[in-house]
Amino acid sequence: RDTQFKDTHGRRFSYLRLSITDVCNFRCNYCLPDGYQCSDKTEPLTLEEIRQLAKTFAAHGTRKIRITGGEPVLRQDLPEIIATLKQTPGIETVALTTNGYKINQHIDNWKAAGLDQLNVSIDSLDPQVFQTITGHNRLHEILTGLDRALELGLSRVKVNAVLLKGHNGDQLNRFLDWVKTTPITLRFIELMETGQNPDYFAKNHLSGESIKQQLLANGWQQKIRSKDAGPAQEFDHPDYQGSIGLIMPYSNDFCSSCNRLRISALGKLHLCLFGEQGYDLRHLMKENKQTELESAIRHLLQDKKASHFLHDGNTGAIQHFAQIGG
Ligand code: GTP
Ligand code: 5AD
Ligand code: SF4
Repeated sequence: RDTQFKDTHGRRFSYLRLSITDVCNFRCNYCLPDGYQCSDKTEPLTLEEIRQLAKTFAAHGTRKIRITGGEPVLRQDLPEIIATLKQTPGIETVALTTNGYKINQHIDNWKAAGLDQLNVSIDSLDPQVFQTITGHNRLHEILTGLDRALELGLSRVKVNAVLLKGHNGDQLNRFLDWVKTTPITLRFIELMETGQNPDYFAKNHLSGESIKQQLLANGWQQKIRSKDAGPAQEFDHPDYQGSIGLIMPYSNDFCSSCNRLRISALGKLHLCLFGEQGYDLRHLMKENKQTELESAIRHLLQDKKASHFLHDGNTGAIQHFAQIGG
């Protein structure tokens, strides 16, 4: 019997993005332009709740869990969370997305706990521009941590840079020079409009299409990817150790390969980054409610839409990415 979670558009969900806190210590101006206080005092998911979620999703086809935030590294029990996910039967890959703060101090522990993949946000390689975007003068420290992660041999390290017209839109060459000798995948992400950044979005959004054209004109080749590889397009070049990725949610067909579901730090299921307010599952995250939890998810999945419909001016329900980890 096929027990995998699936939707009405034929998509399956091998990948769960799990937010473990909505608190962030950075203030990236595209994400939290006006600062941000977490909305209430509700505690984020406990280790026990996380264990049960992982078990439930793994039993229905999830093979990879990415830990997100806010900033997940702010949770003291992050190593235990990594270990719990990694020990869940069926989970093959545990990944973490972080703003890079404190990688250097913790990466050895995370690796020992079972971390396989690390994604780090670095929006500029110029320390000054980096500080203007994030509010923190930490570029050097983050790059040191990244080197350590590469040294430890994590199976994959990616760097995310949100494309911003006013800030880093002209820095392609600087990023490319870096990738020439650094074995990472550097992904350019199109700025997405949320409830909190409409003015910023109007001023700074840049399409990834022109980068794609520049890459193709300069000897980069688009990789063939499997149907369930997720929405990023990736490019390789024989002279470069690293790869380039493009995340272009505003281009056509982005959602047809969606393989992911999201759980917020307060235990809500989000069918799409831009989809809806989220469905509360927390009351079902108990050992004796396993069956109910499964059937609730299965039922809710029937509502997953074919696309985020951003092209139609939809900004969706989220205020900012710190809420559900992007
Ligand atoms: P891997 O493929 O596992 O490396 O992960 P990822 O690229 O999804 O993870 P990461 O947390 O680094 O996210 C990078 C950016 O891509 C974030 O801004 C995400 O919001 C965006 N992104 C990832 N998946 C989706 C998606 O399904 N829809 C939209 N709109 N954006 C996405
Ligand atoms: N648009 C695109 N990417 C965003 N991120 C945060 N907010 C936005 C936005 N509005 C990115 C972060 C991080 C990833 C998880 O999401 O830079 O790399
Ligand atoms: Fe920046 Fe991520 Fe924090 Fe938002 S949640 S302010 S994108 S580090």
